[in-house]
Order: sequence, then C-alpha cells, then structure tokens
Amino acid sequence: SALAVGPWRATTYDFDDSNGLGRQFDGIGGLSAGASSKLLVNYPEKERSEILDYLFKPNFGASLQILKVEIGGDSQSTDGTEASHMHNIWDENYHRGYEWWLMVEAKQRNPNIKLYGLPWGFPAWIGDGATNPYQNPEVTADYVVRWISGAKTVYGLKIDLIGIWNERPYNITYIKTLRFMLDQRGFSNVRIVVADGKWNIAADILKDPGLAIAVDFIGCHYPGSVTTDDALKTGKQLWSSEDFSTYNNETGGGCWARILNRNYALGHMTSTISWSLIASWYNPLPFFRDGLMTAVEPWSGHYSVDTPIWLSAHTTQFTQVGWKYLEHGAGVGMLKGGGSYVALVSPDKKDLTIIVETMSHNHSLCVRPRLPEYDVVPQTMNIHLKGSFGNIKQLNIWYSKLGFDGETSIMFQKKEALQLTNGMGSVSLGADEVYTLTTVTTGQKGQGDLLPPSKPFPLPYTDNFESYAISEEPYNLAPQTGSFEVVAGDAGHGKVMRQTVVLPPVAWCKADAMNKSIGMIGNFSWSDIYVEVEAQVGKINTADSVFIAARVQNGGCRSQLARGIFFFVSPLLQQYTLSYDIAGTQLLASGGAPTAALGWNNISLLVSGTQVRGQVNGKELFLLQAPNSTHNGFVAIGTDGYGLADFDNFMISTAH
Ligand code: GAL
Repeated sequence: SALAVGPWRATTYDFDDSNGLGRQFDGIGGLSAGASSKLLVNYPEKERSEILDYLFKPNFGASLQILKVEIGGDSQSTDGTEASHMHNIWDENYHRGYEWWLMVEAKQRNPNIKLYGLPWGFPAWIGDGATNPYQNPEVTADYVVRWISGAKTVYGLKIDLIGIWNERPYNITYIKTLRFMLDQRGFSNVRIVVADGKWNIAADILKDPGLAIAVDFIGCHYPGSVTTDDALKTGKQLWSSEDFSTYNNETGGGCWARILNRNYALGHMTSTISWSLIASWYNPLPFFRDGLMTAVEPWSGHYSVDTPIWLSAHTTQFTQVGWKYLEHGAGVGMLKGGGSYVALVSPDKKDLTIIVETMSHNHSLCVRPRLPEYDVVPQTMNIHLKGSFGNIKQLNIWYSKLGFDGETSIMFQKKEALQLTNGMGSVSLGADEVYTLTTVTTGQKGQGDLLPPSKPFPLPYTDNFESYAISEEPYNLAPQTGSFEVVAGDAGHGKVMRQTVVLPPVAWCKADAMNKSIGMIGNFSWSDIYVEVEAQVGKINTADSVFIAARVQNGGCRSQLARGIFFFVSPLLQQYTLSYDIAGTQLLASGGAPTAALGWNNISLLVSGTQVRGQVNGKELFLLQAPNSTHNGFVAIGTDGYGLADFDNFMISTAH
C-alpha cells in the first residue's frame, strides 16, 4: 500500500516536559457489577487468593488502581441481581453479597486502590411508586451515603468515588443533594463521578455552576476513545468509567490495549475501567468471558488468566495514580504507521513510563462502539527524551505481541533494556504489539501454582444452607431476579435460604417487571435431571407460589423470557401449574395439589427425555409428556410474585 513506503517508516517522537505536563493520571480499573463476580466467592481458598493476586496485587498481574463495584439494588443488572443493603425501609444490613468482601481483599493487597460505588437498580421503596430513584432526592442520597458509611464502620473501607445511576437518566437536584449530604456527614473526600452514561452532562455542567462545584469527574461509557468539546471545556477530569466488555481472547486483549492508550491519546481520558473485573458468571449468561480474566468453576478451582491481565500490567505496573501524562505532541500521540503512544511521569519527575501499542483494526475490535478503519504497518519509532528526561541512560522494556492465525501470543515479557545516547534510541514496531519503556525497575509477571483441571458442575449437588453465615448469598445459585439470602429458619430447619424482595425494584432492565424471582444454578447442558427442594411461602409479605424448574434458558435482562420446564406450587391455593416458560403463557398442565400445605413442602421435579414428573410431599401430581420443551438448560428455583419464601434441603441429581 502507499503507506508502506512513506518517510514516516522511521519517525522521531519527542518526550519532553519543557513546556509543561498534560493531565493527571487517575488509574486503570475493573468493575464488579451485574453479579459479574458471582462464582468467584466459592473458589477454594488457594485458587481464590491467586486470582485476587492476579487482579490486585502490585507488581504481580493487572495490579489494578481502581475497583468499582455495584451498590446492590435487588435488581437484575446484567448477569444477575446484587443484594441491597436496605431491602426495605426498615432494614439495614452490610453482610450481603460479595462486594464488601471483594473490596476488603483488594485493599489488603493494595492499600492505595481507589474504591468507587455505583447503583444499577434500587429497591422498590426508593422509587416510591416511580420507575426512577429521584422522587425523593434526600431518601436516595441517604440510602447511598449509608452504603458509604457502612463500608467505613463495618469494614474500615474508605470509598473514594460515588456515581449516580448506571446508564440511566441523571437528576441535577439529586446530584447536588448527594454532594450536600456527603459533606454534611463527614464524607467531603468522597468525589462524585457523573453520570456513567454519555458526555451530554457536560452541557449541564457548563450551564450550572452549582453542578460544576458538586462534581469532580465526568465518566462516559464506551466512548470509543472520543470526547466532546463541551466535556473538555468543563475542565473536569474525563474518564471512560466503563469500557471493554469484550470476549477476553486475543482480539479482546487488543481492544483493551488499544483503548488504554487511545482513551488518553485521542480522548484526554485519564481513567479507563473494564466491565468486568473478572468474568465469573455461568456460561451462557450474557457477555460470557467479558472480563479481564475468567473464573467460572468454583467446584474445580480451575480459572484462566487471560490477555487483558497482562495488557493492563503494561500500564499499571509502571505508573501510580497521581502521575501525570506528558503533553500531546511532547510524549503523547498517534504513531505515523498506526498505533499510539502515551508517556507518564512521576510527581518527582524521576520516573518516566512510555506505553506504545500498535493494535491493528481487526485484531482490536471491542464490543462497542464501531471502530473506524485504519492501517498499521511495521515502523521504526525513534525516541528522543528531552527536558527532565534528557539524562536518562536506559529504559527497561516489557513486551507483548498478540498472536493470531496459529501464532502464539507473547505476554508481558521482559526484554533487554534500551540504551539511550543523548536521550535517543529506537524501537522497531510490528503490528499487534505493546511496549512499555520505563525507568521503573520493578515489574513482574506473577505466576500462580499449577492449575487444577477443569471439571463440570458436580452431581449430585445438595445444599442445606447450614455452612453459610447469616445474610450470605448462597454460592452457586445465580439470582436473576429477586434476592436470596441465608436466614435463621424456624424449628427443625436450622438455616434456610430466603427470597427477600417483596416488590418489583426500580429496575435497571425489564426482567424485574415480570414480578417473579428466579435463581439459576448448574450446567447449561443438563437435559435429564432431578430437582428437589423443601419450600414454604412467607407468613407476611408472601410470594404467591414457589417453583422449581429444569432446562432453563434465557437469563440476565431477558429472564422474563426464560423457557424450560417450570413447576409452580401454591400452598395457599393448593394448586400447581406446569409450563414451558416462567411467564406461564405456555401451560403444560395445572390442577390441584391437595398435599401442599402451609409450612414446609417437599417439592420435586424429574425430567427425562420427553417425560416429566412432579410431586408434592410424596404425592405424584403429574407424569406426562413435554414434547415441546427446551432440550437443555439450568436448574432454577424461585417464586411467582415477589414476596417472601424459604427454601431448604435443595438437591439436584441425574434423573433417576
Ligand atoms: C454496560 C453495562 C454493564 C454491562 C455491559 C455489558 O452497558 O453498564 O452493566 O451490562 O454493558 O456489555
């Protein structure tokens, strides 16, 4: 092509602070939200600790500088629901879910990691009858500030950053109210990020000085490395506060490496945060493996350290939050032959880190937005260090190359240092490479122990919920709507699992609107399967009925479309229904359930080939053919109608 002969094939790039510096670097982060960390908690301690090291430990793996987490809202938020700290107005509890645990583990490994909280959905009472959380700004601000306060008093965690409502409308009165309440309650150091959507809030910030004072960062999602004039005019730090969400193979790694550099080089963004931190939810719930690494087998301990971990390390292991980028044209920019470079300097100006990436278009596609075409060709990068950096004699080199078409990838390898003469040296660049050139002498490619082999979900599987602490969410059950937690049961039942959501939440997506709770578990390939549980509906705020189901397909925001074989039992009406879908629109059978009783009921469902059998308290209610059933899917458990219901002695086995 014409490009291949251009004089830019050897181009000199200056790295010079003589005319000042660029923006402050705010860190690279990972986002645990939408139940994306669901399966991680139940890993064997050894492997779990290794995984956390890969994510958070400085000089080991991704060495993340920001951990952003969902403030659970009892609402479906992509791959499940996360539990709220206040299911109801009279309730407050900081022992639910796994984000507290995750934040504690992250801080233990890196005390400097920044913590950032953001709600997806909210419990119904926050909405006060509306589908947004802004009816009573003080109530919502109080709810969020309590979460920040709980983090501090219960776990000693300092929350650094707080957001508004993920990818949903913001409300200026609410933002100002939140700022006011944070200041009033001793959290003036907690900075507000707005509004985890698009750049449009910049126009409001320019118009409203009160809003401008209230907020510190503009966080845009999936910006495609592009910002707007308005956003720049605000003078605020600009973030890609959610990005990536791409299958974490070589191309996914290419996406991540490209945006880590170009979000600053093109868009002046000083932080990029990956959804997700770790892909730790069942396949095939939505966006499978869209995380920095993958851990989906708590029963085997098997996990994988994927390309984005090492491509993160290229930046994170050689920078700190508070370093500064060099100016555009003096250490930051696009390469003539395709690709980009950024340089960052420590506050004392002693350390310099340059990151160069040459990701080609087709090998660095992200899930969104569309990437305009461009070319990458082999090129020589002549580096010329000037100003404070003129005396640097050598730069340590860390190198990655993503391999395609049968080529193996080279990930985060230390190479021989580059010697500089009068501040000058050069590097030959091919396509799909990342170079870190740095004065920093640390840096390590961390390595866990030998991985246990992969295994399928074990059968038979039983859970009597006795091994959990009160308020814990049972490990392998992945709630898609509703929220399930361990509570003290009534006489003879020890601890039991309770569905605790009583009204449809202020939803993030449609799933919650079906007014049913559903938790999924197991292996999507299961076809012939036996499920048994003991269940009782609540005495107050009760669910109408409970169900168990097999061959369940469709989760996440499509949970209301879930298909499979659903066996609903109403102990109050002493009736059952059997349907091909959770919505109950494709009825297979229905009738009386004379043995169903108030109090505990033993309910079982057997599916084998086209045959389906259901029992309540030992009495067979049906034995029939279900020729139109889905062929395979998860086992599920839940309620018709939100409302309280208890479950105990849950059992899954091969059909017998
Ligand atoms: C984002 C959303 C995340 C997750 C992601 C999947 O828009 O904020 O929660 O759903 O998409 O790509």
